[in-house]
Amino acid sequence: MCGIVGYIGPKQASTFLIDGLSKLEYRGYDSAGIAVHDGNQITIEKTIGRLANLEKKLDKHQLQGSLGIGHTRWATHGRPSDVNSHPHSDCTGNFVVVHNGIIENYMYLKEQLIAKGHIFTSETDTEVVAHLLEEHYDGDFEVAVKKVLDDISGSYALVFMTKFEPGKIICTKQDNPLVIGLGEGENFIASDIPAIINHTRRTYILSDGEMAVVTKDSVWVTNRQGVPITKKVFEVHWDAEAAEKGGYEHFMSKEIYEQPKAVRETMTSRLAKDNSHVTFEELKWSKGEMAAITKVMIVACGTAYHAGIVGKYYIESLARIPVEVDVASEFRYRSPLVDENTLAIVISQSGETLDTLAALKEAKRLGAKTMAITNVVGSSISREADQVVYTWAGPEIAVASTKAYTTQLISMAMLAIYMAGLRETITAERSQELISGLRNVPAQIHEILEDVEPIKTFAQQYGFNEDVFFIGRSLDYAVALEGALKLKEISYIHAEAYAAGELKHGTLALITEGVPVIALATQHDVYEKTLSNIKEVKARDAVVIGIAQQGDDQIKKYVDHTIFIPAADKFLAPILAVIPLQLLSYYAAVTRGCDVDKPRNLAKSVTVE
Ligand code: AGP
Ligand code: GLU
Repeated sequence: MCGIVGYIGPKQASTFLIDGLSKLEYRGYDSAGIAVHDGNQITIEKTIGRLANLEKKLDKHQLQGSLGIGHTRWATHGRPSDVNSHPHSDCTGNFVVVHNGIIENYMYLKEQLIAKGHIFTSETDTEVVAHLLEEHYDGDFEVAVKKVLDDISGSYALVFMTKFEPGKIICTKQDNPLVIGLGEGENFIASDIPAIINHTRRTYILSDGEMAVVTKDSVWVTNRQGVPITKKVFEVHWDAEAAEKGGYEHFMSKEIYEQPKAVRETMTSRLAKDNSHVTFEELKWSKGEMAAITKVMIVACGTAYHAGIVGKYYIESLARIPVEVDVASEFRYRSPLVDENTLAIVISQSGETLDTLAALKEAKRLGAKTMAITNVVGSSISREADQVVYTWAGPEIAVASTKAYTTQLISMAMLAIYMAGLRETITAERSQELISGLRNVPAQIHEILEDVEPIKTFAQQYGFNEDVFFIGRSLDYAVALEGALKLKEISYIHAEAYAAGELKHGTLALITEGVPVIALATQHDVYEKTLSNIKEVKARDAVVIGIAQQGDDQIKKYVDHTIFIPAADKFLAPILAVIPLQLLSYYAAVTRGCDVDKPRNLAKSVTVE
């Protein structure tokens, strides 16, 4: 999920590797490393922390050689540490690999490899790839790599080197970016274009399933069956800043578009192949322990708090445990009733939010069992909690959270199904129905992202209004809260979210002619009630944008504009309904000329109380 570089040519590889990795630093990472082949053997230098730490090590121990690979790691499996840093090697040190992504079946493969006598040194999923290469190598590097690819499943950009074939690097990808920079008598490999644009602007962008054998003078691309592929040269015209955003105008839009992948990555390895259950390798709950929990408290801030509200619906409905949701800064000071049968779940993208960390410590002090849902392996919150579920959204750079939020919802849904399974409060049919619904979510998000023009038009039309209201019932209300926060934080438009039925108890006084109201109506069980509330605001001449499920043929009669999301189970609709709201805020902010990625007064990680 972070940075990959590779070099083959006449120069010292380490110079390019360090320079290339430095161009990828903006993405955030927790450790760095390089491996260089000197013609006889491969030497690895790697370390936790900044690239500067690696450079210090290299000052003392220079790596000579004109063939090398490098990596900055954003840990997903195994905490940030020297041994978990990439590159990884097999038992002999003859095969090395760097990897972005997740090898989903690594546990199974690791057990098999250990049974065959392989010795593992790291906790990562990646290390299995190096050992598999050792296992399959029989004098032909390409054949061995293909066999490795047959064994593994998951998402990856992988770059391999072997001591035995010092004239080539092999690379391949599945659901993670990888580009080859074409030089004169030298070639470059990188996960992202900024790493190479100082050296060449001529590139091959690899597609999923393609494999490239790169020498200093040639790049030979085939599919996994060995059929040659003629690649078109992609000339990069972006400047360095645009290249960092992968051609998107802002990190926020890049991250909105990364959601299908982020969501898929977070869930696939946790869903049973036959959709019968959810497994969290990292959670160690027995049936008895889960049955003993009498109360869940979800504590978080901002967007993560909104994910908590959705989580409350999920856990209460499926696992039948009462759930309280608190903003972290309130939780600590209200003498919460917590005991050893309470499960406190904190949610935090960064894992560093001080309010959330303090609330977690307080819950622990009061005797609760604790669990964190976070996106950053090794973060303060992940270290403090008894158990951790990681979202695998990859680094989120824009201050406004998007992909972290949808992966938090996915994690919450999976957690509720998992808890319900242990507590035997869900039928096999319902569990299966929800899990197969979850599997459709990435494609459904993609479908929404394919057709953004109408949303852009609404944003341009209403982008200069001073007040916008979001209404919804049940899970739609939770999404409304997130929609309003998104709009406020990046476009500075005053926005309020109301439980649709609550409007008439006061706020309806603010609805006058032309005021935009975004009405979420994706929840079938409260649909008619929501329609009544829509009629209430229409009667006051509000302009209503309805968000409804495809197949809803009534809504258009009651609203001014409609945005349809693909039809989904009511539980999963929030994960889809939030996407148009993210886009709406994004385009409103762009229309108003706001600093989308760095909104005024806000920070990505809030480490003050
Ligand atoms: C999200 O768009 C906001 N920037 C903010 O509300 C954020 O979600 C909140 O500060 C919590 O951050 P965390 O998830 O890193 O703990
Ligand atoms: N899953 C791998 C690890 O945790 C790769 C992480 C990355 O993409 O940086 O080591």
